[in-house]
Amino acid sequence: MGAMPEEIDGVTALLTECKEITSGRRTYYIGKYKDIDTVVVFSRWGKVAAATTVSTLIHEFNITELLFTGVAGAIHPDLKIGDIVVAKRLIHHDLDVRPIIKQYEIPLLDRTYLETADDRLKSAEKAINTLLENKNLHAAIGDEELDRFNIIHPKLFIGDVASGDQFFYKSSQKHALHTQLPDVLCVEMEGAAVAQVCFEHDIPFTVIRTISDDADESSPVSFAQFIEQVASKYSVEIVKNIYRQITSL
Ligand code: ADE
Repeated sequence: MGAMPEEIDGVTALLTECKEITSGRRTYYIGKYKDIDTVVVFSRWGKVAAATTVSTLIHEFNITELLFTGVAGAIHPDLKIGDIVVAKRLIHHDLDVRPIIKQYEIPLLDRTYLETADDRLKSAEKAINTLLENKNLHAAIGDEELDRFNIIHPKLFIGDVASGDQFFYKSSQKHALHTQLPDVLCVEMEGAAVAQVCFEHDIPFTVIRTISDDADESSPVSFAQFIEQVASKYSVEIVKNIYRQITSL
């Protein structure tokens, strides 16, 4: 599943025997990646849209595993554009059912964080470290594009990702989130919803986010070009590397 239409195009192109099913304003691309039955879909934006899409994947397409790639805004000051985050834990930063339960806790699930399984974290970590090796990075993305976004030595981070129905475009939003949840690495609009639905159905999930912007006044400027020229290429390489990773075990 991808968070932008441009992002899933490259992954869809990897499929063989590909057919399309359209339902609920979403197009599901169904085919095989190597020997694995695969469905590729654009989540649409925001938590409701993404949760609905995952629900369809589970109930109509019987998926047994979910991989989400997308972009995110940097919250932690260590993160730079072009870095990649694997979500170890996901939190809904806009969920607040006080005074009935504590801030951020998910009603009826008795938890605040959705956690990724260790084996999924490990295979994503290896796949991304392979992509970020200098020669592989330069093979995947042109020097001109790397220069344009000032991507020199992109790094992998594994940690907390916050999701909510807001695009962060003001420093005040960024600083408020960092103050409230200092461990959060980046912000996006779908991951925790996807993880919650997967958790409720015992489907293993992996959420991977490329930092596209600084979640402040500069966000909208860099966004669209970045997705096309960098993030979508990362997604393709990550899918390929995760497959290699799984099949070499
Ligand atoms: N996804 C990518 N950048 C984002 C931002 N600044 N806020 C929320 N979601 C995002």
